[in-house]
Amino acid sequence: MTNKTPKPRLLTGDRPTGKLHLGHYVGSLANRLSMQDQYDSYFIIADLHTLTTKPEPNYIKDLPFYIREIAIDYLSVGIDPNKSTIYVQSAIPETFQLNLIFEMLVTVSRLQRIPSLKEMARDAHISSMPFGLLGYPVLQAVDILLPRANVVPVGKDNQSHVELAREIASRFNTIYGQTFDEPQDLLSGIPMLIGTDGKNKMSKSLHNAIYLSDDPATVATKVKGMYTDPTRLRASDPGHTEGNPVFIYHDAFNSKKDEVADLKERYRTGKVSDVEVKDKLTIALNNFLDPIREKRAYFTNHPMMVQDVLNAGIQKMQREARRTMELVRERTGLSYSADLVSDKVDLFGEYGGQK
Ligand code: TRP
Repeated sequence: MTNKTPKPRLLTGDRPTGKLHLGHYVGSLANRLSMQDQYDSYFIIADLHTLTTKPEPNYIKDLPFYIREIAIDYLSVGIDPNKSTIYVQSAIPETFQLNLIFEMLVTVSRLQRIPSLKEMARDAHISSMPFGLLGYPVLQAVDILLPRANVVPVGKDNQSHVELAREIASRFNTIYGQTFDEPQDLLSGIPMLIGTDGKNKMSKSLHNAIYLSDDPATVATKVKGMYTDPTRLRASDPGHTEGNPVFIYHDAFNSKKDEVADLKERYRTGKVSDVEVKDKLTIALNNFLDPIREKRAYFTNHPMMVQDVLNAGIQKMQREARRTMELVRERTGLSYSADLVSDKVDLFGEYGGQK
C-alpha cells in the first residue's frame, strides 16, 4: 500500500479579458508547467473579477469567448487537465457566499491602502472607487482559500493581494477557530517582458503584444516593426544588445544559444543588419510557437474536449468549495443552508423558537 502525503495545493489564474501572449508565457505559464507535477494545481479563470471594472453587459457578453480562448491557451502550452484543475470562477456558487463572510473580516482603510486598486481604477477611467473594486482582493482571497490553497504564484502587482488573503485567513482562524492555512505567495517567472514597442510591459491594451495564437505571418510583421537600438542607424554601427527588446526576446525564446551569442557579438561590433537579427528572431519565435499552434488547432477543432475539461474542473472545484463552505458554516455557527428547507430538521435548535 502506498501512503503518500498529499501534495501542497497551488492556486493561480487569470481574468478572461484577452488572449494570452508571450509576456504571460515567460511571466507565469512556464512556471505553472514546471510546478504542475509538484503541486495539486488549480487554475481559476476569474470572470467575476472582470466585473470590478467592467460590469456592463457589453463586456459580460464577451466573457464566454475569452474563457474558451484562455482554456485553449492553457491546454496548448501544456497544462495537463489530468494533473491540474481548470475552472471558471462564476460557476462556483460558494465564491459569492464566502465573499460576504470575508468582507466582515477586513476594514475599508486596510483596502484603501492597497496601491494596485487605485491603479486599476485609474486605468479603467473610474473616478470614484466602487465598493466591489475595493473588494477585489477580498474576492481574490476567496479564490485562494475556497480550495484551501497553500501556494499562490503571482506577479509583483498581486503580492499585496496574497498578503491580504493571509490576513483574512488569520483573522478567520482567530475568531472562529483554526480553519485555513495561511497561503504563501510565490513570485513567479521573469518579472515582466517588454513589449514590441520597447517602452512598456507587454500588454493587450498597449498593442505591443505577440500572442500565443498569432500566426507565423503576424509574428513576422510584429517583429519587423519592433523597436531596437535607436542609436544605431546603419548595419555597420556598433549597437547595444542589453535592454534591446529584440535581444531580450532572443534570450527568452531562441533555443539556439550559439546563434544568439554570435548575433550579439556581431551586433556590438557592427557586423550584422537589424534585418538579419529580426529574421532570425521571427524564425525562433515561430519555432517556439509552432507546437503551441498545433495543439491550439487541435483543441479549436475539438471544442467538446475543451468543454469537457472545464466541466470536469468545475465539478471538482464545486466539491472542494462545498466542503470548505460546510466547514465555514460549522465554525461560524451559520447553520442555515439552502438545502435545509427541504429537510425535516429543527431550524431553531436549542432555543425552540424563544430566547
Ligand atoms: N488578480 C489576478 C490578475 O491580476 C487574477 C486572479 C483572480 C488571481 N483570482 C486569483 C490570481 C487568485 C491568483 C490567485 O489578473
